[in-house]
Parts: sequence; structure tokens; C-alpha cells
Amino acid sequence: MHLADFSPPLGEYMNDKQTLHVLLVEDSRTYAMPVKEFIEDKGHRVTHSRSGEDAVQCYLEELPDVILMGVIMQGIGGIEATRLIRQIKTDRWVSIIMMTSLEGTESLIEGLEAGADEYLIKPIRFDVLDARIRALQRIARVQHSLQDVKQQLVQTEKMASIGQLAAGIAHEINNPIGFVYSNIGSLERYLSSVFQMLDTYEQISATMADEHQLAQLASLRKELDIEFLKEDIPNLITESKDGISRVKNIVQDLKDFSHVDDSLDFKLADLHKGIDSTLNIVSNEIKYKAEIIKEYGVLPEVECVAAHLNQVFMNLAINAAHAIGETRGKITIRTGRSKDKVWITFSDTGCGIPNDIRSKVFDPFFTTKPIGKGTGLGLSLSYGIIQKHHGTIEIESEVGKGTTFHISLPIRQTGPNNTAGNTQ
Ligand SMILES: Nc1ncnc2c1ncn2[C@@H]1O[C@H](COP(=O)(O)OP(=O)(O)OP(=O)(O)O)[C@@H](O)[C@H]1O
Ligand SMILES: [Mg+2]
Repeated sequence: MHLADFSPPLGEYMNDKQTLHVLLVEDSRTYAMPVKEFIEDKGHRVTHSRSGEDAVQCYLEELPDVILMGVIMQGIGGIEATRLIRQIKTDRWVSIIMMTSLEGTESLIEGLEAGADEYLIKPIRFDVLDARIRALQRIARVQHSLQDVKQQLVQTEKMASIGQLAAGIAHEINNPIGFVYSNIGSLERYLSSVFQMLDTYEQISATMADEHQLAQLASLRKELDIEFLKEDIPNLITESKDGISRVKNIVQDLKDFSHVDDSLDFKLADLHKGIDSTLNIVSNEIKYKAEIIKEYGVLPEVECVAAHLNQVFMNLAINAAHAIGETRGKITIRTGRSKDKVWITFSDTGCGIPNDIRSKVFDPFFTTKPIGKGTGLGLSLSYGIIQKHHGTIEIESEVGKGTTFHISLPIRQTGPNNTAGNTQ
């Protein structure tokens, strides 16, 4: 299969859970072992728990997909454990199956009311168990993709409200920064006139003033440290101008992120060229940290604002390099086409992104880098740019192994106003 035909739809391989994690709660080892072995033989993972208390603890720590719950155990029984597990607030789906003997129909009803989804009659028939597990796999797949959609919706909504906030801040900061910048420019010119005048006074006073006056001038000059001022004022002005330029850039980034200036010029462009030239620009930052591997597919020209997409590629490449530690790593860039879309992935062998910060990395100013190394705007900007292109950017990451950023972009921008944002 040619690479170009291979589109890795992120959602799919995250959801395609072939392997289930089963928590088997049963105090009789003789009874539990054959069930455990049978499930493991089917390629699933089983954790065995021998009491209700242990089951609740295991559930919290391991978040299994399925719990096979015995009813009568020492300590809290299966029904109480089911009730406790169902009280735990989590986004994760878990299916609880009670295992009970035929005589235990009462406890079966109680179990279902406590939150179990189904039941299996003991002694368990392995063909029934097998069919149940396969049915659960199908449900798990649907549940996981629902979870993904939900996360995406929350993310899109969050980014939209952060976008509004960013636009507001950018607008408010833009005006004062504008006049401070222009005032500093005027101040620089005025001060240069004042110094010029001062120099002339000095020259003339040397010939016209008497000794006493000259001594007075010299003492004042020393007291006020005029020589130092002449040296330092231009430095202060240059530094202030630099500082304000930086603020201006940040404001511009915020505006780009929040689609304030939406007068974009979409043109057909070769994305590979864009990626290559961007990599050339950042090669100094990358070459000592990682080897770059390109696995390009065949791409058509894409309707885009090439300069903006290059900014995205640059952010992803630099982030990837930063994520790679002391040992030299790899950054792999893959591209391909899938129907009316193209996809680009940037994978690194870096530190990975822990789950708890994954939903924050697109937020403006979110950074884990030391002060001065990152402003935390790279990914939020990239997110805004990809949105403007009506595409998507998603993350797949494993701590300690690496991260992949998946970008999907439409080949053509459709609709009367192809610069409109927020259609994800
Ligand atoms: N490839 C990656 N691997 C691991 N963590 C990453 C990766 N890319 C981004 N991150 C995490 O996401 C955070 C935000 O990234 P983002 O590019 O927005 O900001 P930054 O790189 O910290 O600063 P800036 O890009 O503004 O210089 C990073 O600080 C880092 O913690
Ligand atoms: Mg960055």
C-alpha cells in the first residue's frame, strides 16, 4: 500500500479497542482461575480481585472496561461494591456484569438495581461468556468514540471562549501599546535634539562663561552624571522599543489565534515545499537533537495561506525538538491524502504529554517550559490557523515514548467566504 493511501484517522485507532481490561471480582480462586484463563486466552487483560473493597480500589486505580462481579464475598459483597463504583464520578464507561447462581435471582435484581448492566448465571458457560465479551467489545468501541466526540466538543467550545477572551485582551492592549510605541519613537527624536542642544551649550559656555560659572557647570554636570545619562538613555529607549515589539508580537499572535484579522489570501500551494523550507529555517534548533525522517506521500496542491501553515509546521517541529531530551531522537513527518483532505503528522520520540495536561496545551500561554524558553502561544496559534483552514489538529501521545500531532486539512476551501473560521 502506498503511503499516500494510508490515512491514520486518529479517532479510529484510539477507539478501536481490541483488548478489553476485565476486572474479575471473585473470592473463590478455584472458580476464578478458569474464567481468568479463558478471558486471557481471548487476548484480553484480567485483574483478579478477591473482595468488594479491593474491587473498588482496583477500579479507581486501573479503570477497567468490564467488571465481572461475584455476589457473595467476605467484607462488602458484590452488590455493595457495584453501588460504590457507580457512585464514583468518571467520564469512563465501565460495564458491570453480575455473576450469580440460579438460586440467587433475588440478589440478581438487587445487583441490577445497584448499577450492574447484565448478569451471567453460574456455573458460567464459556460460550456465553465469549459472546458477551464480543458484544462488550462492540459497545466499548462505540463508548470510546462517543467519549472522543464529547472531548472534542468540550475542546472546541473551550477554544471558542478562550478565543473571545484573547480577542478582547488583544483589542484592549493594542491601543495603549500602539501609542506607547509611537511616543517612544518621538521621545527618541526629541531627546536627540535635547542632547544636541546640550552639546552646543557646552561648547559655547566653554568660551563665554567665566571660571566660576564654568566650575558651577562642571559640578552640576558631575552631580547629574550627564555623561552616564547620554550613554544610558539611548539604551533604555532601545530596550523599551524591543520590549514593546515583543508585546506587539504577542498581541498579534493572540489576534491570529482568535481570527480577528480575517482578511486572508488563500492560494494553491505545495505543502511539502512549505515543510521543507520551514525545516531549513529551524534546522539549527533541531539538528543536534534529532534526526528528521520524511515519509511524504503524494499530495495535491492545497488551498491555504502557506505562510500561516508554515508557522504551524515550525511550532510543531520546534516543540518536537524541545520534547527530546539528552539522547538524540527522531522527528518523523508523514503526509498523505485521504479523499478530499490531506493529512500531515509530526511524530517525535520525546517525553510525551501527560494526560492531565493534554487538554491544556492548546490554551494560550500554557507552557511547561522555563521562563524565557516558551510563551505558550505556539500551539494555540497553530490551533487558530488550522481552524481558519477548516481543518483539525489532534494529539496522540504516550509519556516516555513520544507524541504525534495529526493535522487534517481540506484540499479546497468551499463556501462563499472561504476565510470564515469556526466551522469545525
Ligand atoms: N511534541 C511535544 N512533546 C511534549 N510536549 C509538548 C509537545 N508539544 C507541545 N508540548 C507541550 O505543550 C506546551 C505548549 O506548547 P506551545 O507550543 O503552545 O508553547 P511552548 O512551546 O511552551 O512556547 P512557545 O511555542 O510559545 O515558544 C509545551 O510547553 C509542552 O509542555
Ligand atoms: Mg511551542
